[in-house]
Parts: sequence; C-alpha cells; structure tokens
Amino acid sequence: MPDPQIALMAKKAREIMHNAYAPYSHYQVGACVAAEDDSLFVGCNIENASFRLTSCAEAAAISAMVVAGKKRIKSIVIMGSGTELCAPCGACRQTIREFATSNTKIYLCDSATCEVCKVFTIEQLLPNSFGPQHLE
Ligand code: THU
Repeated sequence: MPDPQIALMAKKAREIMHNAYAPYSHYQVGACVAAEDDSLFVGCNIENASFRLTSCAEAAAISAMVVAGKKRIKSIVIMGSGTELCAPCGACRQTIREFATSNTKIYLCDSATCEVCKVFTIEQLLPNSFGPQHLE
C-alpha cells in the first residue's frame, strides 16, 4: 500500500514537471518536497541559453521551501521525463544535504506511472559529506 503523502507528492511532481523550461535538453524534471510540518513545495528545471545558469527541479523546490520559512526536508520526490529514473545530480545532492536529516527520504519515481521505484537516505546518495557541522 503506497504512502498517501508520497502518492500526492508524486502527482504534484508530475504536474509541475510539465512546466519545465527545457528548450535545450528537452528533459523535464519535477520535484516535490515535504517539509517537517507536511507542507509541500514543488519545482521544475529551468534552463538558460547560458547553460551553466540552469536550475534543477530539486533546487527550485527546496528554494520555495526555504522562502516559506521551512528549514528541514522530511521527504522529496523526484522524477524526470526519460525512461530512466532521474537521480539527483551532484549539486542537488549537496543542496538536499543542507536541509536533510538522517530521517529524510529521497524517492525516485517513474513519471509514467508515478510509482516509487527507489528510496534513499542522503547518507546513501552523498556519503561522508561536507555539511553545516563543519562550519560550527
Ligand atoms: N536536472 C534536474 O532538474 N535535476 C537533476 O538532478 C538532474 C538534471 C535538469 C537540468 C537540465 O535542465 C536537465 O535536467 C538536463 O540535465
């Protein structure tokens, strides 16, 4: 039985994925973040003719969460328009890391079915990471 919150997040990620601005790669990504209080924030990728200015879907969703005053990610759902699961890029792993706890779950979903295919912790995706504690 799928977790109803994750199912809702997957639907929201799929909806927002179609808002991607991806005229260069034609690869659309959608993300939905749940903060600790269960509020949800979505993001899509936004490309730029100056390629390195592209912003990823995860970064957009996390920015929206922080703008709303939340600082902890309970879970994040990510999906991409290809047939392969969309794994978060290295930069996004570090961005997730900033606001994750050891309980944060990262769900990779199939964009065709919204089904959860893989679940990770941030320690699994970015082991032995640099983080806020290094600057305390
Ligand atoms: N992309 C994301 O939005 N998130 C990732 O974690 C991987 C890549 C986007 C960036 C770019 O617009 C497109 O996918 C192809 O790299």
